[in-house]
Amino acid sequence: MKSQRNFSRTEAKRVGNVTIILAIFLSLCVLSIIKSHFAPYAVKSDEPVVFEEERKESLKIEKEETKETAETADSAAIEDEDDEAETETKAKAEAQAQAVDLSKPTCYESSRRSDTCEAAGDVRVQGRTQTVYIQPLAQEWKIKPYCRKHDAFALSHVKEWTLKPFSAARPPPPCTRNHSATAMIFSNGGFTGNLFHDYTDVLVPVFISSFRYDAEVQFLVSSLKPWWISKYLLIFQQLSKYDIIDVDNDDEVHCFPRAVVGPTFHKELGVDAGKTAGGYSAADFRKLLRRAFGLERAAAAPSGDQWDIRRRPRLLIISRKNSRTFLNERAMVDMATSLGFDVRVGEPDINTDVAKFARLVNSADVMVGAHGAGLTNMVFLPAGAVLIQIVPFGGLEWLARGTFQEPAKDMEIHYIEYKIRLDETTLSEQYHTDHPVLKDPFSVHKQGWDALKTVYLDKQNLRPHLGRLKNTLLEALRLLPHSHSH
Ligand SMILES: *[C@@H]1O[C@H](CO)[C@@H](O)[C@H](O)[C@H]1NC(C)=O
Repeated sequence: MKSQRNFSRTEAKRVGNVTIILAIFLSLCVLSIIKSHFAPYAVKSDEPVVFEEERKESLKIEKEETKETAETADSAAIEDEDDEAETETKAKAEAQAQAVDLSKPTCYESSRRSDTCEAAGDVRVQGRTQTVYIQPLAQEWKIKPYCRKHDAFALSHVKEWTLKPFSAARPPPPCTRNHSATAMIFSNGGFTGNLFHDYTDVLVPVFISSFRYDAEVQFLVSSLKPWWISKYLLIFQQLSKYDIIDVDNDDEVHCFPRAVVGPTFHKELGVDAGKTAGGYSAADFRKLLRRAFGLERAAAAPSGDQWDIRRRPRLLIISRKNSRTFLNERAMVDMATSLGFDVRVGEPDINTDVAKFARLVNSADVMVGAHGAGLTNMVFLPAGAVLIQIVPFGGLEWLARGTFQEPAKDMEIHYIEYKIRLDETTLSEQYHTDHPVLKDPFSVHKQGWDALKTVYLDKQNLRPHLGRLKNTLLEALRLLPHSHSH
C-alpha cells in the first residue's frame, strides 16, 4: 500500500473515486430491484410489510412474495480508500448500515395484531411530538405502538408515532440526553385498565420485545397513566434497570443506539418461543412474575411436611359482583370445603394490590371463575394447577377457548371447562323459552360484539348446579399432585 501511495497518490485517489461511483451505481441498481419487488406492500409509509409466516395466519388474501431477494441484497461494499480517517468513517457507516440492513423494512407487521419498528444507528426520540429521528432510515414510517392493530376503538386511544430520516433541510434536534440502552416505545392507551388487556395487549408483548435486552432497555411510555405504571412497576423493574419515561410529557431529546417502537404480539396471553431471540417462552414470563412478586410456588406440589396445612389443596373462587355473578357462591364454598378443599374467595378489581393478589393465586391449586378478566390471574398459578373456566350460557365456547383455554397449555396449567346450562342461568328467567337469546345464541352473535356482550356477558348471572360442579371439582382434584402423593 505504501509504495503504491508513493508511486502516485493522486492516481490511486482517482481509481478510488471511480470505484466509489461504480459501487454507488451498483447499489442503486440493486435497491431499485428490491424496491420494485416490495412495491405492492411497502409503498405507503403507514402500510407496513407483512412477513411470510404471519401472512399465512392472517385472514387477508395477499400475493406471494419471498424474503430471499432482500437477503441477497446485502449492500455492495465501498472500499479501496486510502485516507485513514475517511476509511474509518466509512467503515463505521458501513457497519451501521449492515447492522441495520436498509434493504429490510424498518417497520413491519410483526403479527396480525401488531406492527413493530426496529432501528439502529443514531436514534433521537422527541416525545412531545411523538417523533423518532433515525439515521440511517430509508423512508418515513408511522405506527401506533399498541397490540390491537385492527381495533379502531382501541387505537383511537393510542397516539401515532412518526419515524423520520435525518434531513439536511430540517436537521434533527440535538441530543439532550444520551443513553446506551435500547429504547422501547409502547402505549399505555388502548384497553389498558382491564386486567386481560393489560397482559395480552401490553405486558406480555413488552416482555416478548424487551426480555432479550437483559434489562438494558429504556421504556418510553406514550399516553402514560401513572396509576397503571405503578400497578405493574414490579414487572417493569424486572425487565428494565432504568426508570420509565413519561415520553409524551418530556422535553428532552433522548438519544439511543437502537430502538424498538411497538411491542410484538404472538398469541393471546402467550409467547411463541420459536419467534423470540434466545427462545424464551411463557414459562420465562411466569418465572419473571414470580420473581417480581416474590411468589414461592413454581409448581403445585404439596409441601413435604405432613403437618403443613398446605397439604390440603386450596381452591380459589374468583368472585364477580356486577355480572356473571355466582348467585349460590356460599353453597359452592361449603360444597368444596366438604370435598377437602381449603377454600378462598377473591374478588380482584382495578384497585387490587397486584402483589398481594398474585400471592393468593399462587397459593391456590385450583382456580375457578366465570369467564372474565379476573381469570387472567392464572398467570400466577403454579405449574400443574387447575383452571376451571365457567362458561356462561350463549355459545361462548370460542371466546372461552381463545382467551383462557389456549394460553393454559403453555403455562403448564390443567384446564377444565364447566358450561352453564339453561337451568343454571338467569337468562332463562328473563326470556321466554322460545326466544332467540335462548334458542339461537348465534343469531345474537351475528348482531356483533356489543349485542353479544350486553346479552350474554353483562346481563347474565349464574347458579352452577352443585352436583355437576362437584364432579368437576373432583376431576380437578384427580389432576393434582396431592392425590398421588399419599
Ligand atoms: C451525546 O453524544 C453525542 C455524540 O457522542 C455528543 O456529541 C453529545 O455532546 C452528547 N450529549 C450529551 C447531552 O451528553
